Amino acid sequence: MKIVVVGAGYVGLSIATLLSQYHTVTLLEISPERVDQINRREVPIHDPGIEEFFRDRKLDLTATGNPEQAYDGAALVFIAVPTNYDPDTRQFDLSALNSVFRSMSKVRDLSSQETCPLIVIKSTIPVGYTKEAKETFGIARLLFCPEFLRETHALEDTRLPSRVVVGYTESDPNAKRDAELLAQILVDASEKKDAPVCLMGLEESEAVKLFANTYLALRVAFFNEMDSFAETRGLNTREIIRGVCTDPRIGRHYNNPSFGYGGYCLPKDTKQLLDHFEGIPNDLIRAVVAANQTRKEFVTDQIRSFAQSSCPAGKEPLIGVYRLSMKKGSDNHRSSSILDVAAMLAESGLDLQVYDPPLGDADIFEGIPVCHSLEQFLETSTCIIANRFDKELENVKGKVYTRDLFLED
Ligand SMILES: NC(=O)c1ccc[n+]([C@@H]2O[C@H](COP(=O)([O-])OP(=O)(O)OC[C@H]3O[C@@H](n4cnc5c(N)ncnc54)[C@H](O)[C@@H]3O)[C@@H](O)[C@H]2O)c1
Repeated sequence: MKIVVVGAGYVGLSIATLLSQYHTVTLLEISPERVDQINRREVPIHDPGIEEFFRDRKLDLTATGNPEQAYDGAALVFIAVPTNYDPDTRQFDLSALNSVFRSMSKVRDLSSQETCPLIVIKSTIPVGYTKEAKETFGIARLLFCPEFLRETHALEDTRLPSRVVVGYTESDPNAKRDAELLAQILVDASEKKDAPVCLMGLEESEAVKLFANTYLALRVAFFNEMDSFAETRGLNTREIIRGVCTDPRIGRHYNNPSFGYGGYCLPKDTKQLLDHFEGIPNDLIRAVVAANQTRKEFVTDQIRSFAQSSCPAGKEPLIGVYRLSMKKGSDNHRSSSILDVAAMLAESGLDLQVYDPPLGDADIFEGIPVCHSLEQFLETSTCIIANRFDKELENVKGKVYTRDLFLED
């Protein structure tokens, strides 16, 4: 089957890599640099799983920037373009998705079951968008299939999906068949043949994605707030978490304190869901968003005190920001909580420097000098802040501020 995947980011590249073992896959991507990299079998993002597949497996995969070439003869199209949060409209920016539909309709007749390829939105979208896009662009076959992968385990999570959720127009028997077909293709390509499949209405499936991420954000915010309480009262957070989480109903997972939840998805998806609650009674959803800001402000205050108390006499504090990504092993710092903390520290007049190899040769990052030598960074910083600890910091442990109590994500 000829498949097109639009957008060669974490989501698009993972699904394209997996499916190209069994199907002819074309990645349609607007960045010419990414197109060239993929065609040279270089992976434009950091993902050990994709790197291994590119190296060791036979993949029928090419990339192009040309929509005509990509869509010609395609039976199945996945769309995985960004849906960033726009603070002005307080909603996702859907312009990339809309432009994909516009350009696809110039190449293919999307109006009938016979001529339209099966089109699947993987991008995270507001509740109601799929139905709206179906009507606006006159698309006969459009499904929503939310993606749940983690950036640091993108291909692994695509190979071993926690579940396959597919949203379809329930009043249309053709759409039900399409949803079943898509689920079968995804399960067949996965290495988890018993992955739970949940077929449901379009809006329900759109809500699944936003509520799943908001639950994860809620959980992070809960353990962070517990940590703020314990730190303020001089208590051992680790012991409290251990005691609380040993209850199997709560579970010993996803409970490691941090500077705040962050990364590409949780901040934007919680805000989009909060926008949907306009006019609907709620306390919790609003609190999840607010709690993250409160946490980052609390951590910033703690660091200000630590920077002063840990600074050798006669010196001015120089705060070293150790890596910008949210998670160990990640190569990007989109909406990372340490960035907001660093910005607040800089605003209060403190001197900072950052060490983060993925920044490359840049000498300044958002007004903060970049230190390229780890040795120099460790030596010259009077204190170091790390959202996630690393053995590189072991020898200077005494001057590190982190809330990474379990040394895990
Ligand atoms: N990153 C995650 O962990 C994750 C998890 C689940 C869902 N999602 C959702 O999936 C979507 C994509 O996320 P991502 O992390 O893969 O994004 P990304 O930024 O890593 O990749 C998006 C890619 O799309 C390309 N692109 C942008 N506009 C395009 C266009 N008009 N035509 C072709 N290519 C275009 C970009 O150049 C980029 O390479 C978002 O809606 C996100 O919320 C992401």
